[in-house]
Amino acid sequence: MQLPEHGSNTKYVYESLKMKQPEKVIDFSVNINPLGAPKVLQEKWGDWFTAINDYPDPYAYTLMEELAAQENISAAHLLAGNGAAEIITLVARYLAGSKVAVIHPAFSEYAAACRKEDCEVVEIVLAAPEWNLEVSALADKLHGVKAVFLCNPNNPTGVHYNRETVEALMEACKRTDTLCIIDEAFYDFLPEPVTYIEKVLHQQHVLIIRSLTKMYSIAGLRLGFLAGNPELLQEIGRTKPHWSVNALAMKAGVACLQDRSHTVETRRFIEAERTAIFQELVKLGFEHSSSQLNFYLLRDPSLSTQEQLFHYLLRQGLVLRHTENFPGIEGEWLRVAVKQPDDNKILLEALAAWKQRN
Ligand SMILES: Cc1ncc(COP(=O)(O)O)c(C=O)c1O
Repeated sequence: MQLPEHGSNTKYVYESLKMKQPEKVIDFSVNINPLGAPKVLQEKWGDWFTAINDYPDPYAYTLMEELAAQENISAAHLLAGNGAAEIITLVARYLAGSKVAVIHPAFSEYAAACRKEDCEVVEIVLAAPEWNLEVSALADKLHGVKAVFLCNPNNPTGVHYNRETVEALMEACKRTDTLCIIDEAFYDFLPEPVTYIEKVLHQQHVLIIRSLTKMYSIAGLRLGFLAGNPELLQEIGRTKPHWSVNALAMKAGVACLQDRSHTVETRRFIEAERTAIFQELVKLGFEHSSSQLNFYLLRDPSLSTQEQLFHYLLRQGLVLRHTENFPGIEGEWLRVAVKQPDDNKILLEALAAWKQRN
């Protein structure tokens, strides 16, 4: 059995390695908000019970109106999905059979979903440990490419590409008639969030993917959306199953979007915690990516692949995310979520003990 392709659901990691899962496990492999969901969801959950009796609005009208107001665009520029994962599947179906490019390292689903649709996937791999993106160096590779995916800010590195770089990519895409697809699933974890969503109002070839599951910790509920020009969204939405976004997700989505304090508090918490973790990691002799998000890449520079460290931590119930299926990283780093201080402390202590042993 192969290692799982995604974080979370830790039992599959242990099963794949034929290891017994310890009774207590801390999951550092899933990169959702460690502060959990906004309190309003728990408060309102009971009131929403009757929503399960009827079919949900197939156009998610109320949710789209709320999103449109917050993003300063019209609802016609938005398409709701059962998580950003559904959006990626729909986009891949739209691109079926064509040549697409993925700027790596990146979330593995772009390439996986496109391959399922018989696309040829061009892998543009950026070099560790900075993963700098030089658009002038990759522009040539866009000829004949129908769409390019950029995950910004990036999963798994946590690196944020700046405006100049993203706009240069958009310009390069325009010249080659390539769709420029930016996945902003983690944009709201940036200390100062930056989004390119307003570009879809004037740039027909730009698509923005968003997820609400990370910031609002509703990965089990599922909610995401796509922003783009209305005609293109209609085309992409053609294969979406009717009612794919459930009624509770829509209600939760509206409540989450209206709760501005949760995002502010989360950003403050993550930045402080991540800064403290990084200081400690450097002291202990580990390397980390220059992440601005709620997760980071970690490596022990005395090892080439991090397998031994990964297994050592697994034996203690500390589950990090392997990177075997991230082109350009392939096991040379481990991805770690920023969690609550007690959990982060347990991990740092385990890493300190590892260094003492080795
Ligand atoms: C960069 C990125 N985009 C999209 C997704 C999918 O998010 P969702 O839970 O909304 O389907 C993930 C999930 O890990 C992700 O990391």
